[in-house]
Amino acid sequence: MSQDQTNSAWGGRFSEATDAFVQRFTASVEFDQRMYAQDIQGSVAHATMLAKVGVLTEAERDTIIQGLAEIKADIEAGQFEWSIALEDVHMNIEAALTKKIGITGKKLHTGRSRNDQVATDIRLFLRDEIDLLCADLTRLQEGLIGLAAQEAETIMPGFTHLQTAQPVTFGHHLLAWNEMLERDFARLQDCRKRVNVLPLGAAALAGTTYPIDRAYTAELLGFDAPTENSLDSVSDRDFAIEFSSAAAIIMMHLSRYSEELVLWASAQFNFIDLPDRFCTGSSIMPQKKNPDVPELVRGKSGRVFGHLMSLLTLMKSQPLAYNKDNQEDKEPLFDSIDTLAGSLRAFADMVPHIKAKKDVMREAALRGFSTATDLADYLVRKGVAFRDSHEIVGSAVGYGVKHNKDLGEMSLQELQQFGDMITEDVFDVLTLEGSVQARDHLGGTAPKQVRAAAQRAQAKIASRR
Ligand code: ARG
Repeated sequence: MSQDQTNSAWGGRFSEATDAFVQRFTASVEFDQRMYAQDIQGSVAHATMLAKVGVLTEAERDTIIQGLAEIKADIEAGQFEWSIALEDVHMNIEAALTKKIGITGKKLHTGRSRNDQVATDIRLFLRDEIDLLCADLTRLQEGLIGLAAQEAETIMPGFTHLQTAQPVTFGHHLLAWNEMLERDFARLQDCRKRVNVLPLGAAALAGTTYPIDRAYTAELLGFDAPTENSLDSVSDRDFAIEFSSAAAIIMMHLSRYSEELVLWASAQFNFIDLPDRFCTGSSIMPQKKNPDVPELVRGKSGRVFGHLMSLLTLMKSQPLAYNKDNQEDKEPLFDSIDTLAGSLRAFADMVPHIKAKKDVMREAALRGFSTATDLADYLVRKGVAFRDSHEIVGSAVGYGVKHNKDLGEMSLQELQQFGDMITEDVFDVLTLEGSVQARDHLGGTAPKQVRAAAQRAQAKIASRR
C-alpha cells in the first residue's frame, strides 16, 4: 500500500500535508476496499442517472462506465495499487478513474458526497451478504429437517433443568432447533427491507442543487425506494444494528445447539457420534476426540454479541448528520458477517452427519422415571384428581429410588401398593413408545406429528424459492 500521494480530493484549502500518522490513523482503505464492487456498482448507476438528467453527456457516461469496468478488472486481477493517502475505497477508485480517463473522471462525483456514497455501498454490500447468509441458513435447515424426519421414532430423554423430564423423539428435538432458525430467517428478511433503500442523492447532508432523479438511481440499483430525508440518509446506521442483532440471535441459537452437541458427544451422555472430520485430537491424550467445531462456534458467539454492542455505542449520542465516527461501522459489521457465515457453513456441513446412538438414548430415557407424568395422567383417567395422582406417583418414584427400579420395571403388585385402581393396562403407558405416541397433537412429540411437522417445515422452505 503506497503512502506518498497528497490528497487531491480535498487538499485545496490545506496549507500543510496531513501528518503521516494521522493519515494512517484516519484511513479506512485497508478494510473498506472490500466494498469495491458495490462502490463501482453505485458509481455506474450514479453516472447513468447524471446522463439521463443531462448533467453528463452520454459520451462522458460511457467513458466513465468503461473506466470503472477496467478498474474492477484490475482490482480482481490483483493489479490495483491501494493508497493510504487516498484514505478510503471511494477516493482510491475515483483517483484511479481520473488517472485512466482524464478530466471526465473528475465529473463522476458531481451531485454526490462520500457520505451518501458510503451509506449506499454498505447497504448494497449488506444486501448481498444477507442473501448469501439466508442461503446458508436454508441449507442448515434442510439438513436438520431431513435428519429430523429420519429420527422421528428415535426416543431420547427430554430435559428440563438438564434433569430427565419426559421421553421425546430425537426428531422432535431437532425440529425445535429448526423453529429457531425459521424465526432467524424471517428476521433477516425483515431487516433486508430496511437495508434496501437508497441514500444516494442526500449528498453531504442537505441534498444537491443538480436536477437528480433518485427514483431512477434506486431502480438501477434494485433498491425498493430512495430514502426520505437527506440528513437521516447519511447518518442512519440502524440497518447495521438490526442486522447485528439478528446475527447475534442466530449465534446465540448456534451456541445452544453447540452446547447440546458437546454434551451429547461426551462419554457421560454418549448420545451421538460426530464425524471425525469435524473433530480434532489431543497432542497429549491419544484417546481424545474433541468436538472442536461446536465448541468454536459456541465461543465465536461472543464476538458477534460484542459487535452489536459496538455499533449501538458507535451511534449513541451522535448528532446529525454524518460524523467520522461512522467509519467505525464497517469492521464490526464485516466480522459479524464472516463469523456468522463460517459458523452456519460449519453447521450446515456437519448436521446431516450426526449419528444418533439410538440404544444409548433409549436406555437413558428408561432411567430417571421419565414416564412418571404418564402414570399420573393414567390415574386421572381412572378417576383420581390430578393433585392426588401426582402425590401417588411421587410415592411410587420414592419407592423406585429406594429399590433402584424404574416405574416400568416394577411388577403390577408393586405398583398396586400405591393405588388399587392400577391394572395390567398401566404397562401401555409406562413404555417409552406409549408415552411419546400419546402426545399426538399439533406441536407434540408423537412420531406421527414429527413426520407431519417435518413436512410442513420443508414446504415452508420450498416456498422461499
Ligand atoms: N471512509 C468514510 C467512511 O467510512 C467515508 C465517508 C467519509 N466522509 C467524510 N466526509 N469524511 O465513513
